[in-house]
Amino acid sequence: MEVVSSSELDEFVDRVRERSDIREVVGNYVPLTFKAGRYWGCCPFHSEKTASFTVTPDKGLFYCFGCHVGGNVFNFLSKIENITYFEAIKLQAERLGIPIPVRNKSPEEMKVEQNKKTLLKINELARDFYHSRLTKGPQGESCRKYLVSRGITENVIKNFKLGFAPNSDELTKILIRRGFSYEQLEAAGLVQKSSYDDGFYEKMKGRMIIPINDIFGRVVAFGGRTLKNDADVAKYLNTKETAVFVKGKMLFGLDRANKKISAQDYAIVVEGYMDAISLASFGIENVVASLGTAFSEAQAKLLTRYTRRIIFCYDSDEAGQRATVRALPIVQQAGAEAFVIKVPEGKDPDEFIRRKGKPAFAKLIRNATPMIDYRIDFVLDHSKHDSYDEKVYTLHEILPLVAKIEDATLKNAYARKIATALFLDETSVKAEWEKFSTGSKQNENFSAGRFKIQEKSKLEQSIEVILRTSWGEVEIMDYVLSLVPREFFPEKYQEIIGYIERCYKEDRVPDDLDAAKELDEKSYAELSRILSPAASRFGVEEFVQQDSKAFTDSFEVIRQAWSKIHYEKLLTEFYATINDKNKSFDGELPKIAQLADKMFSLTKIED
Ligand code: CTP
Ligand code: MN
Repeated sequence: MEVVSSSELDEFVDRVRERSDIREVVGNYVPLTFKAGRYWGCCPFHSEKTASFTVTPDKGLFYCFGCHVGGNVFNFLSKIENITYFEAIKLQAERLGIPIPVRNKSPEEMKVEQNKKTLLKINELARDFYHSRLTKGPQGESCRKYLVSRGITENVIKNFKLGFAPNSDELTKILIRRGFSYEQLEAAGLVQKSSYDDGFYEKMKGRMIIPINDIFGRVVAFGGRTLKNDADVAKYLNTKETAVFVKGKMLFGLDRANKKISAQDYAIVVEGYMDAISLASFGIENVVASLGTAFSEAQAKLLTRYTRRIIFCYDSDEAGQRATVRALPIVQQAGAEAFVIKVPEGKDPDEFIRRKGKPAFAKLIRNATPMIDYRIDFVLDHSKHDSYDEKVYTLHEILPLVAKIEDATLKNAYARKIATALFLDETSVKAEWEKFSTGSKQNENFSAGRFKIQEKSKLEQSIEVILRTSWGEVEIMDYVLSLVPREFFPEKYQEIIGYIERCYKEDRVPDDLDAAKELDEKSYAELSRILSPAASRFGVEEFVQQDSKAFTDSFEVIRQAWSKIHYEKLLTEFYATINDKNKSFDGELPKIAQLADKMFSLTKIED
């Protein structure tokens, strides 16, 4: 082994980058087709039916117009494989057969690693101790009875290695005898320093023990449930965060469930340990628990290694519903589809399956609510909509949830659902929806809570079609500008037009990342909106296919608008000329004729 210097590392990274062909790498995950100067496919990071994900091989970059993720080949790999940037470099190096430079670990790193090993060993010994105290001997009697009363079988106890912590310092004594120090036991979270003397005491005494494993099946922490039915006693005590336990990055049960999750291609996420354990005991094993914390991005990413379909089955109380509604966009952000199981009669999944049995729960799974419906229902349940104003307000809380739906049948179905729920006319719901989709997504009027969406003018819509078309084919802008002067276009489009023009002149392919550098912030945001398929009824697919009808229609609108202005200007000039008493009619005749000619040619394209 050799020590690797930072320049050696840079060289290695450069070598991997140079040898990587982003089109080929992305192509392994996403089917791509070449159109309009770049490769297109359906984005793997958000769900879509219309291709808005692009790869520009000569720049080595990818970009999605839909969800605005982009970057180089390593960013892509790290996102799609859920690995770090450096792991992505290593993965790609392995695939290309480029040797990865190795180095010795620093003494500091060795120490950290050694420390983690010690904690894992302590946890393992503790788990085995707790488990044997539950399964053998008189101490575990009460806990065994408790588990029986909850329908937990011996098999489940064995599988999850459940345990019981006796009311003594036995575990501490055993571990100290094995050569571990009190400080190490404290670092593992098993004991806590007493606040009134120098002693240490065990935290979990008298509790049922649920070992929490990392994804490799190593015990990293414990949950301890009280056996008492006493509101003054905390129901659960959990191991504090330690060097081997980071709560928000863990999912309880994932080490056991991951194969089933892959095989069944969906995961069920529950709130509680006991929910996961109980479902597993009924043979529903693709289940993980989020450990009572808010579902995190890291947890979503963990799951998307195994599936892109996640069903939430939280408790059906208000807290559970709120936690669900917060988790859904996180799942969507991670590029997975989310569904929700609503457990009927105010129960949690554990209670439900014990009362109604596995087939009833299987039915709940089959009828899981898609994310959009759940979010709509949540808004409806949590808003007043009696008066017209309230209805309109609620409608506008719902529209952002459905705005991205492109499928016409689905759109109709949702419009009907919303209209029915709010006692509104279906056509007006649809009209508001259209306005919302064509209007700016983060409309200021809306975020201020007022219902006043301004529709984009037909001219603006048309200009945006032209911009989208010429983004794929820059010569189109040149053609447009040969017939309509640049000054005619509204100020907000000027920079974008300038950029496309420059690309044409300099023979460059428009690139979002370049554009980000060359445009000011406002114009770039405007551009992103224009290029995103949700911005208009003419989606990216249409512009890729160079929908000539959309283009011709739009160009016609622009030409007529320009002609109108131009014509009015000429007309003013025309009258000024013939009414000018200081000028002889004869002398001005050629000019008048010329103006008349021009006006005549313009009126031909007037409607
Ligand atoms: N939790 C916790 N501390 C508490 C209460 C809850 O850490 N005082 C966490 C636990 O991870 C628990 C989860 O939140 O599993 C969900 O809470 P709850 O639904 O109350 O727990 P269940 O697992 O359903 O437990 P039980 O069925 O035994 O009541
Ligand atoms: Mn419960």
